[in-house]
Amino acid sequence: MCGIVGYVGKHKASPFILEGLKRLEYRGYDSTGVAILQNGAFHVVKKIGRVANLEKEIAKSPLNGTFGIGHTRWATHGGVTDANAHPHISSDGKIALIHNGVIENYAAMKKFLLTKGYTFKSETDTEVLCNLIAYHYAKEPVVAGENRLFASVRKTLLHAEGTYGIVVMGVDLPGEMVAARKGSPLILGLGDNENIIASDVSAIVARTQSVVYLKDGEIVNVTQKDFRVTTLDQESVSPTVDRVTWNIADSEMGAYAHFMEKEIFEQPVALENAMRGRFSEDGSTTNFGGLNISASEFRGIERFMFCACGTALHACMVTEHMIERFARIPVECDYASEFRYRNSPLFRNTLFFVMSQSGETIDTLAALREAKRKGYKVLAVSNVVGSTIAREADGGIYQHVGPEVGVASTKAFTSQLLIGAMLALYIGRMRDLSFGAGQRCVTALKGAPDLVRKALELAPHVKAIAKRYAHYTDMLFLGRMSLFPIALEGALKLKEISYIHAEGYPAAEMKHGPIALISEKCPSVIFAPAGEIFNKIVSSMQEIKARKGPVIAIITEGAELPAGLADEVITIPTCHEAVLPIVASIPVQLLSYYIAVERGCDVDKPRNLAKSVTVE
Ligand code: F6R
Repeated sequence: MCGIVGYVGKHKASPFILEGLKRLEYRGYDSTGVAILQNGAFHVVKKIGRVANLEKEIAKSPLNGTFGIGHTRWATHGGVTDANAHPHISSDGKIALIHNGVIENYAAMKKFLLTKGYTFKSETDTEVLCNLIAYHYAKEPVVAGENRLFASVRKTLLHAEGTYGIVVMGVDLPGEMVAARKGSPLILGLGDNENIIASDVSAIVARTQSVVYLKDGEIVNVTQKDFRVTTLDQESVSPTVDRVTWNIADSEMGAYAHFMEKEIFEQPVALENAMRGRFSEDGSTTNFGGLNISASEFRGIERFMFCACGTALHACMVTEHMIERFARIPVECDYASEFRYRNSPLFRNTLFFVMSQSGETIDTLAALREAKRKGYKVLAVSNVVGSTIAREADGGIYQHVGPEVGVASTKAFTSQLLIGAMLALYIGRMRDLSFGAGQRCVTALKGAPDLVRKALELAPHVKAIAKRYAHYTDMLFLGRMSLFPIALEGALKLKEISYIHAEGYPAAEMKHGPIALISEKCPSVIFAPAGEIFNKIVSSMQEIKARKGPVIAIITEGAELPAGLADEVITIPTCHEAVLPIVASIPVQLLSYYIAVERGCDVDKPRNLAKSVTVE
C-alpha cells in the first residue's frame, strides 16, 4: 500500500522519482505527488489519479532539483483529493513528508498541535505527523555536527502509535533525508554518488542493485554519499548490504497488454525457476535449502498450521489437501487476520507456515509474530527476498518467480501451489509415501511447466468464451477436493479485476444454499476432472442445468460429459494429482483476465485494491 521514493544524488530528482513511482504504482494509485527541494524552497506537485497525470503537470514547469521525495497513495485517512495526496508540508513550511501506514493516535497529536498554532490543509494522519516533526524541529537546539532533523523525527516517532514507512526532508537541509520504518517496508538503495529510499526494490534497481533492508524500529539519515542507521532507542546498527537478484527488465511489461497477461504467460518459466535444484538426486523427493529445521525435527511434527491472506490462503488450502494426502498429517489453515486475534489453542509439535508473495502483508506478519510469541517455529513461503516476513521467519522457501506487478496474483499463486506440493512430497517421503510413489510425483512435478504451456494454448478458446460471458453480473465457481480452493481463487480473480460478483463453493455444497442463485442469469464455472468423484460432480451440473443455469465445465482429457450438459467445455491436460490444481488454475486466470479486458476494466490496477496490503 502506497509507494515511496526518495532521491538524493547527482541527477535531477524528478525524472527518477516519476520513473520509480510508475514502477510502484501497483502499490496504490489514487493520487500521486512529489516535493523537490530547489533554490531553498519545496516545490510540490500533487494530483489525484495516476502517475501519468502528475508527469503531465510537472512537464508544464520542469523541476531541476537533485533532491526530492515522491509518493503514490492508497487512501486510508481522508478521501481521494489533491490536498490529501502526499507529500505533506508542515504549516511552517519547514518539513516535507511522505508516509505509508496509519498513525493511530493522530487525533491526540492534532489536538496538541492546534494549541501550538499549527494548521492543517488535509484530513490525513500524515500531515499531523509532519507538523509534529516541525514542532520538534523548531524546538531542537542547533548544535554543530548534530542532525536536528534526525533528532526531531526520532522524538516524533517515539510518540507515534501505528505503522509507518516515512521519508522526511527539511527545507533548511538540502541533501539530507531521514527515513524510518515500523510495519511498512523501506529499502535503502546505495548508488554511485547517489542514494535512494523506496518502499520496494523495483523503484531502485534501475540505478543500483546494492540495498539495505531497513528493519522495524530503525531510522536512517541519508545523504548523497553516506548513510547512518540507528534504532529509535539510539543504538547504532551495522547494516548488511544485500544484492538484489532482479533486474529492471524483470519488472517491465514487454510486448504484453498488461502485467497480468505477461505474468499468466510467464508461468511455465516461473514454475521452472521455483523448482530448480530442489529435487533429490534419486528423483524420489525434494530438498529445500533454507528450512533451517533438521529432518529429525521435521519427523517429530504432528500438525501443520498455515496462515495467509487472499490468494495465498487459497494456495495454503491446496497445500493442506496435499500434505494430508501424501503425508497423512493433519493440517489447519486460517485467515491470518483472524488467527492474529483469535487466540486459538494450538497443539504441541505443530509447525507453523505463513505464505505471502510480497512478504509484507501486515496480517500475515502479525500471525507470524503471534505464533512465534507462543513459542512456535514459523517458516515462510515468500517471493520477495529480504521482505519482512522472510526475515522474521525461522526459515522458509523462496518462490523465485521474479517480481509480480499485476495486482491480481497469478504466477506467484501457481508457484505457491507447486511449493506446497513439493513440501507435501518432502514430508510424505519421511513417512508413508513409497520410493516409487515419490518418483512418480517428482516426474509429474517436473512436467508441470509443460502441462501449463499446453493449458495456455487454450487462451483463444477461453477468450471466445469470455466474450460471451462478460455481460453477466453474477457467477459461481464450483470445485471439489483440491480444486475447491481453485474455485475460490477463480471467484476471487474474477471479482477483483472485472467487478462481477462471484462466489466459490465446494460443488456439493451448492444445494445447501447457493443453488437459490441459479438461473439463466447466473453461470457456473465447474471443475470436473476425470476421477473418483467425476460422477458426483456431473450430478451437481445436472442440478444447475435443471434450473437453467449456464455451465462452463473445466474437464480433463478423457472425461466424458453427458451430451448437452455443459454450455462451454474447456479441456485441460490430464495430470497427476499434485499438479492438477496448478494446471486447473490456468483457465480460470485466463477467463477472468479476458472478461475484465472485454469489460474495459483496468486489469493491472483494479479499483480500491493495491498490491501488498501493509495496513490492517
Ligand atoms: C489477489 C491477491 C491478494 C493477495 C493477498 C496476500 O489476487 O493478490 O488476495 O494474495 O493480499 O498477499 P501476499 O501474498 O503478498 O501476502
